[in-house]
Amino acid sequence: MPTTPVRSLQPWFRTLNDVGDRLDWEELFDNRHPVELDIGCGRGLFVVTASERNPQRNYVGLEIDYREGRRAATRLMKRRSANARIIGGDCRIALSERIDPGSVAAAHVYFPDPWWKKRHHKRRLFTQEFVDLLARILEDGGEVHSWTDVAEYFDVIRSLMDGHPHFTPLAPPDERTPEHDMDYQTSFERKKRRLGLPIYRGRWQRCPRPDSD
Ligand SMILES: C[S@@+](CC[C@H](N)C(=O)[O-])C[C@H]1O[C@@H](n2cnc3c(N)ncnc32)[C@H](O)[C@@H]1O
Repeated sequence: MPTTPVRSLQPWFRTLNDVGDRLDWEELFDNRHPVELDIGCGRGLFVVTASERNPQRNYVGLEIDYREGRRAATRLMKRRSANARIIGGDCRIALSERIDPGSVAAAHVYFPDPWWKKRHHKRRLFTQEFVDLLARILEDGGEVHSWTDVAEYFDVIRSLMDGHPHFTPLAPPDERTPEHDMDYQTSFERKKRRLGLPIYRGRWQRCPRPDSD
């Protein structure tokens, strides 16, 4: 498949280096609508469908693999999407240094890499530090959605999230029967469900910050 030249993918694909010191949502979207992040967005199925379904919300996919991120951005470019963008780079840098505290309405983390071998578990995205970063960027009442097919990793995610003082668990969504090939939350959900694997779904809410005065 011929790859689209990077420059022509702007504004749909930019790297963290391109955006500078701060991810300014208003500058990115030219409005102040709520922003939802898809962390590790892969080829962008969630960003594409959610942004089409909810034009009054903005969607930002963060993806460390530029090739995957460009694929996602190409889908957005073909639709001339006004409310979705892909940022190439490490989400941990974005969350810790580039995103304003309390500026995100929801963070979606679907099928984070499981790093199967025990000695590689330290490479997993979900750690205490990562959950602290989610708490930092989410607004009061903002939500975290995370799904995986890996039961053991889901236990880790659930205990980190349930045990965090700034999050409270919410009822997860029910499994839906897809109506067509693109009617899945993400490409990985499609892949795993076609293999007949169970999917574990979690949802948590950011607790209100105490009044600062
Ligand atoms: C297993 S894939 C899931 C992709 C997509 N969420 C889905 O459900 O189809 C995990 C994705 O997370 C991305 N990823 C891993 N570590 C990341 C990081 N530190 N920052 C941003 N993306 C990351 C990977 O490149 C990969 O595209």
